[in-house]
Amino acid sequence: MKKKKSLNLSVLENGRHYAMVSIFLTLVLGVLLWPSEEHHDNSQHFVVERHDYLSESRMIVPIVPLAGLDAEKIALGERLFSDPRMSGDNSTACANCHGLGNAGVDGLKVSIGVDGHQGKRNAPTVFNAALNLLQFWDGRVTSLEEQIDSPIENPLEMASSWNQIITKLEDDDYYKEAFSELYAKGITIDNIKNAIATFERSLVTPDSLFDRFLRGDDNAISNKAKAGFELFTNYGCISCHQGMNIGGNMFEKIGVMVPYYNESEEILENEDYGRFHLTGVEEHQYEFRVPSLRNVARTAPYFHDGRVATLDEAVKIMALHQLGLNLDQREIEQIVAFLQTLTGEYNGEPL
Ligand code: HEC
Ligand code: HEC
Repeated sequence: MKKKKSLNLSVLENGRHYAMVSIFLTLVLGVLLWPSEEHHDNSQHFVVERHDYLSESRMIVPIVPLAGLDAEKIALGERLFSDPRMSGDNSTACANCHGLGNAGVDGLKVSIGVDGHQGKRNAPTVFNAALNLLQFWDGRVTSLEEQIDSPIENPLEMASSWNQIITKLEDDDYYKEAFSELYAKGITIDNIKNAIATFERSLVTPDSLFDRFLRGDDNAISNKAKAGFELFTNYGCISCHQGMNIGGNMFEKIGVMVPYYNESEEILENEDYGRFHLTGVEEHQYEFRVPSLRNVARTAPYFHDGRVATLDEAVKIMALHQLGLNLDQREIEQIVAFLQTLTGEYNGEPL
């Protein structure tokens, strides 16, 4: 705690490029998004009460839903997302692992694909994935379109191929008609991806209690949650989890201050080196994409390996391993109360 300043700096140095660029971008975004709110007549009260930590909190901005999405493409994409024929044996839809009624996750430690195959990583939510600059735990792709090849072709997930999928969709009157109405070239790989990605871009969750608070509604969150947000800011969680998605825009090591993997043989055996598997660069060992904390109260279990069942435990681990801090129970509860205000709305209902 006493080393707050230098800790923040070391964190920044670690992911310097991503951190600097993203902080710059979020500040710019903040400047673009904030002035109109600040000129409201209650701004006096607003600025005085929350001056301390809200100045830095411009690193987090409210969700602005993506405009201009085609409703018919969204509907087509939703149908594809929920269609088990997208998998090789017609058993597994995207929605099996990313349940739309279940905050976009499967609630499992690691996912289960076709034939009961167990994957290696925990399924992140598809809600707000459109706001991530990096997709997947290792950030290996940057666009939602590109992301789709991976589950389709992965033998542990959907074990399919684009040829099979196109043949199946060509056999279905609904798809044939919908694609030929919406796309000049009808059913193609790119058009299937475009429909699914358009649907995913509609899966943003605005109007969380915290976003209302950021927009100036002081009573939207409890004092406990405000205290938690202050800790989140002052301890430096915000140096990694920030931007509109409160994460999703930089790589960071898990275990910056205290190694994450040294606790049992079992974990060593299943060790996931994150980004290192892609680049082979030693510095990238244990580097993961910083995940979004939006809706995090609804997306247990936590971390790339789904090892942690509760938010309390996840916060405790983060403080220790990323910041070298031993939080007391009260602080943990305050931060968790803050994280619980990050649950947004989908179709006008809380997620
Ligand atoms: C068998 C379960 C399973 C199925 C089926 C599945 N996914 Fe996933 N999804 C996962 C897992 C696990 C990850 C994380 C993998 C990783 O990071 O290496 C993931 C990651 C993602 C991500 C990245 C989110 C983020 O924040 O990084 C998106 C988007 C996504 N899936 C969309 C889809 C779509 C679209 C489909 C259908 C074409 C699909 N998924 C099918 C389990 C599944
Ligand atoms: C140095 C960057 C960094 C800092 C500082 C940091 N985090 Fe994280 N956070 C990460 C990374 C990277 C992950 C993903 C780790 C993994 O799964 O291996 C993560 C994961 C999480 C998760 C789990 C999310 C999920 O969906 O599984 C929570 C919750 C979380 N952080 C909260 C916090 C809190 C609270 C703090 C401050 C006490 C904090 N983080 C500080 C980088 C950071």
